[in-house]
Amino acid sequence: MKILVINGPNLNMLGIREPDIYGKQDFASLERSIREWANELFLEVALFQSNHEGEIVDIIQSAYGVFDGIVINPAAYTHTSVAILDALKAVGIPTVEVHLSDINTREEFRKHSYVSMVAKKTICGMGFDGYRKALEFHAQK
Ligand code: DQA
Repeated sequence: MKILVINGPNLNMLGIREPDIYGKQDFASLERSIREWANELFLEVALFQSNHEGEIVDIIQSAYGVFDGIVINPAAYTHTSVAILDALKAVGIPTVEVHLSDINTREEFRKHSYVSMVAKKTICGMGFDGYRKALEFHAQK
């Protein structure tokens, strides 16, 4: 089973960026953990990070017919991007949405997620572990 893991803007700044909210571990460490968990679950994984909405739309489109599942943390685009929602709808690949923080207990504007409209499951507030849960969800099928 092939899973594409997509991380959106500013997640490459993990460790530096608001460590009280997102933790002290850096992005490389997140990617290492994801690869290890995927290995344990016998999943083939590809990792992609971008700060650009259009690049995220492009990678979702290119996943069509190639990947069996998507794990996405759209970061700030969660709350704004109809384009990412539409791309996920277009390819119809089962998607799990992940957020490191609990978007429901922060500012009002973070409570709405476009991606939740298409995601099979949304995991938030579990830090890095949320990605493991998302991979486990895909592995169950
Ligand atoms: C985030 C939550 C978003 O509101 C925020 O813009 C992010 C990260 C999270 O992982 O908790 O960049 O998706």
